[in-house]
Amino acid sequence: MSDNVRARFPILSETAHGRPLVFLDSAASAQKPDCVIEAMSEAARHCYANIHRGLYDMSERTTQAYEAVRDDVARFLNAADRREIVFTKNSTEGLNLLAHSLGSQLRPGQAVLISALEHHANIVPWLMLRDRLGIELRVAPINADGDIDLAAYEELLGDGRVALVSVTHMSNVLGTITPVKKLAELAHRHGAKVIVDGSQSIVHRRVDVQALGADFFVFTGHKLYGPTGVGILWGRLPLLEEMPPFLGGGDMIRSVSFEKASWADAPHKFEAGTPAILEVLGLGAAIRFVEELGAEAIEAHERDLVAYARQVLEKTDGVSIMGNPVERGGVFSLQVEGAHPHDLAVLLDQQGIAIRAGQHCAEPLMQELGVQATARASFAIYTTRDEIDALAHGIERARALLA
Ligand code: ALA
Repeated sequence: MSDNVRARFPILSETAHGRPLVFLDSAASAQKPDCVIEAMSEAARHCYANIHRGLYDMSERTTQAYEAVRDDVARFLNAADRREIVFTKNSTEGLNLLAHSLGSQLRPGQAVLISALEHHANIVPWLMLRDRLGIELRVAPINADGDIDLAAYEELLGDGRVALVSVTHMSNVLGTITPVKKLAELAHRHGAKVIVDGSQSIVHRRVDVQALGADFFVFTGHKLYGPTGVGILWGRLPLLEEMPPFLGGGDMIRSVSFEKASWADAPHKFEAGTPAILEVLGLGAAIRFVEELGAEAIEAHERDLVAYARQVLEKTDGVSIMGNPVERGGVFSLQVEGAHPHDLAVLLDQQGIAIRAGQHCAEPLMQELGVQATARASFAIYTTRDEIDALAHGIERARALLA
């Protein structure tokens, strides 16, 4: 990516501890380009009112702008129909919505299958559903490289009791890009519906929900250079139409009395209450920004960074890269000899380098990997090779201080 792309992110010219900021924690939350900041501030200054409710000009214009973002998202994901796009708060809410709504159709004796790579957001809602309904939660293991073990996955589907598969498209810890198309084909062959957690993949790969072949896909706005507080659930329309609502309240009903309520059609039946209006407008700007850069350029930049980081980090004394997946997005978890991940993160921070250290909301995966924590560097469209060099030198300096 060119310097022009970096220039679109005002925060990148900030400093940390008096050093130029080297921001390598985009998998936790990405920085925002000028167009996102402006879209939200322009709306708040010039055209803002509650949506779907007002019979006055400004409410109607805000509604139109809000609904136009639904079209942006449908185009971005190549959804078959704009009604397949549900605005949520984030991926976590999307997965909880599915666990409550779709999950309520499960019966004891049935199972949900996840993988060992999952983030807590794709584990805990299913544990809660298991405890509520008495269903079974199965976990597909990973191999030593950090890829899902496909033979074990298929075996877990074999008895036909798995009603739902819910898997990540990209691990936030190892960077593994999972073979979602294949996983979906196998799940469908065994009669299961498929949910994909795209929180990380949406940033790193072109996602075409029709080509992926899954039934549901969730992502969150703030990792895709958009604001916090807004996410997307995509689902096949006939499935969304059959599903009961998750949250009840205003804007999701057809009619209400003290005796009963009936629901609006999808997607509105899943959008109770005043939504994150300004944030949805910000997400629309983020999506148009990403589309302008183009999926090919984004993926080429990412592949270059991943190859470069591997080459540099492999040569850095004391560093081991965790996992060696068949395909990796821009996330590296590291173990550094003589440096606990938390100490390393603090020593890097003092050099202006921001990484994430800890369990990354993936405690069961840490147990699988036999570690308490990792030091994680993650990349975005504004990340440069120089920043990867800075990380390597930063690790060398940290080790020298700890020696
Ligand atoms: N899920 C986010 C991460 O991986 C917060 O850092």
